[in-house]
Amino acid sequence: MKKMDKTGTPASNSSDEIAKRVDALLNQMSLAEKVGQLAQVGGADWNQGPKPEEIIRERGVGSVLWLNDTKRFNALQKIAMEESPSKIPVLFALDVIHGYKTVFPVPLAMASSWDPSVAEQAQTIAAKESRAAGLHWTFGPMLDIARDARWGRIVEGAGEDPYLGSAMAAAQVRGFQGADLSDPERVLACAKHFAGYGAADGGRDYDPVYLPETQLRNVYFPPFQAAIKAGVSTFMSAYMDLNNVPANGNRWLLHDILREEWGFDGFVISDAFGVLNLVTQGHAKDKSDAAFRSLNAGLNMDMASNSYLDSLEALVNNNSISIEQIDEMVKPILTIKMKMGLFENPYVDETLLEKVIALPEHKQAARRAAQRSMVLLRNEGSLLPLSKELKNVAVIGPLADSMESTEGSWMVFGHKPDAVTVLQGIRNKLSDAKITYAPGPDIRRDIPHPFGEFDATAKKPRQTPEDADAAFQAAVETAQNADLIIAVMGESQDMAGEFASRASLDLPGRQEELLKAVSALGKPIVLVLLNGRPLSINWAAEHVPAILEAWEPGSEGGNAVADILFGDVNPGGKLPVCFPRNGNHAPLYYSRVLTHLPEDRPNYLSRYWDGPTTPLYPFGFGLSYTTFSITNLKLSSGQVKVGQSVTVNVDVTNTGKVAGDEVVQLYIHQKWGSDSRPMRELKGFERITLQPNETKKVTFQLGPDELGYWSTNADKWIQDAAPFDIWVGADSLATLHADLEVFG
Ligand code: NOJ
Repeated sequence: MKKMDKTGTPASNSSDEIAKRVDALLNQMSLAEKVGQLAQVGGADWNQGPKPEEIIRERGVGSVLWLNDTKRFNALQKIAMEESPSKIPVLFALDVIHGYKTVFPVPLAMASSWDPSVAEQAQTIAAKESRAAGLHWTFGPMLDIARDARWGRIVEGAGEDPYLGSAMAAAQVRGFQGADLSDPERVLACAKHFAGYGAADGGRDYDPVYLPETQLRNVYFPPFQAAIKAGVSTFMSAYMDLNNVPANGNRWLLHDILREEWGFDGFVISDAFGVLNLVTQGHAKDKSDAAFRSLNAGLNMDMASNSYLDSLEALVNNNSISIEQIDEMVKPILTIKMKMGLFENPYVDETLLEKVIALPEHKQAARRAAQRSMVLLRNEGSLLPLSKELKNVAVIGPLADSMESTEGSWMVFGHKPDAVTVLQGIRNKLSDAKITYAPGPDIRRDIPHPFGEFDATAKKPRQTPEDADAAFQAAVETAQNADLIIAVMGESQDMAGEFASRASLDLPGRQEELLKAVSALGKPIVLVLLNGRPLSINWAAEHVPAILEAWEPGSEGGNAVADILFGDVNPGGKLPVCFPRNGNHAPLYYSRVLTHLPEDRPNYLSRYWDGPTTPLYPFGFGLSYTTFSITNLKLSSGQVKVGQSVTVNVDVTNTGKVAGDEVVQLYIHQKWGSDSRPMRELKGFERITLQPNETKKVTFQLGPDELGYWSTNADKWIQDAAPFDIWVGADSLATLHADLEVFG
């Protein structure tokens, strides 16, 4: 039996032991090998530069990405373990963002569950499947707060709020990594993109970001800090300039904040080609200067640009960079490889993946995650849930039978779509009914996706206007002949994600026109939205009686939609972002500071004269098939000393006729202090299930973490002695109020 140390870790793997092993290994490595460990090379056919086989044989490599091939992983690892000079295993890395084979709802959807355990379970399963395929490292979770719905990558994160974002960040890290890096069913997580990427100018992907420290520290940093607390092993720096310094070469971010202030001891990788981008960004003179700047900033590993591989040896040889600096950069990479046990167990069992993906609990978890992620936006006259006795239903819309749009973004690198579409889910549920289907006109990006068009529809030739007219007519006729219409509309998979920003938030193509045409038939109609960002569905919000926001719900998405539409599941998700009425309103978010003109005076309501700026649906909003009352807001004390905590209680009752979930949300507002403070900030939430007439008490704690903030005036974290408003309710417009006085 192996000797254990006090923590239960095998003695040979204790931190001290590993530090010694790393030092010994570094002593025997050549400079070329050390630089090899600082490089991640592309394994795709289109990658330029050294092929993984060559470089591994010659000097070893830190990591290989964009490869998704179990046999090749083992073949490459064999070269590393048997032919490379120091026999250091390779880390195989890929973007496993919301599932590997079993696809979970996109992260924005999982955040809509307001249930961190959903995200934790999803990433546990994603880790198990991808590790069984031979991967060691995923580039997730994506922790960028996004308040501009035009930005396509809003789909990959947890929305607009740092408190909810932090809870989802920690849950995902726990899911990917588990408690111990040596767990063979887990993968390394990567907190990305550090930092501020979600605030790109105009929502345009990769454009510069200008964020003052108060925004960074109070809004954009917290999910990253939560990831560190949860033990995240790696960070990825962001593409764009932050306040005119590229994040991939930003020493303030990567060293001063991340290492000095937060004590992060893992390693940092650039975003793809990001080191070389320093040249494009007008920061570095050439490739060598880019490598010099990124390394000095504290960036351990160069993703795919080969700048480190091509330049670092010369920079050490001409004394621009010291060998000690190189060693410091290599250390955390070797440490993590050792902690994972890769030196002892470098290979993957090639028969494992098939067994793992066949586990029935994976599908069940995906279905449950999708059910819990969906948000009921409208339900006039209680049209939903629908009767299972329906005999003649028309399913229309371009996304109704799209596996790609059901699965959502990041399903690339050889992934074959395999999802239950909404059409299929409805057919599964109503096996005896007549279900007719007509997609209507195709929807397409105006400018194709640069990675090639992932979506099956996008690969088809563009429809002619005549074909689109015919498809439109066919959809109207199909609807005309049915008793009830289910329209499945939104955005196709390639319309959100990377390279997928939009100026408008309207339903793309002729979808709204079709919705109007079928609504005019006077039949009951339900709109199911499949999309990766908030959409300005103003017309539908007034005219379509029932609207279900299903997001991109993953491989079991169609079944989950049917579960909700036909009442087997009561929806309980809430929006993690507000829905603007217009793309021009972005950025829009609830947690603003009060302005010159208060909003409670008539005629001062609007910041624009051509319409309200309030969101169509507020942050935290979502309906249920039942109703709830939230009452009895009580604080353990109306006054509390700076540094101490107060307990907040409410009673929540299910006042309707069916069981359901409510997400109880607590918001604060500091009335004055060293800095102006936002009108509302989320500082607590809990999703609970209640039977009809059942009441539960929900308790929150407010202490220095919740009541403090980073102050511009004080230039540090502070907690003011100040009065606070406290609200608890079912969304960010909650009205149930109490006062809290914090004294010094
Ligand atoms: C670029 C993206 O910004 C990043 O999120 C991703 O992880 C890398 N490419 C690797 O695919």
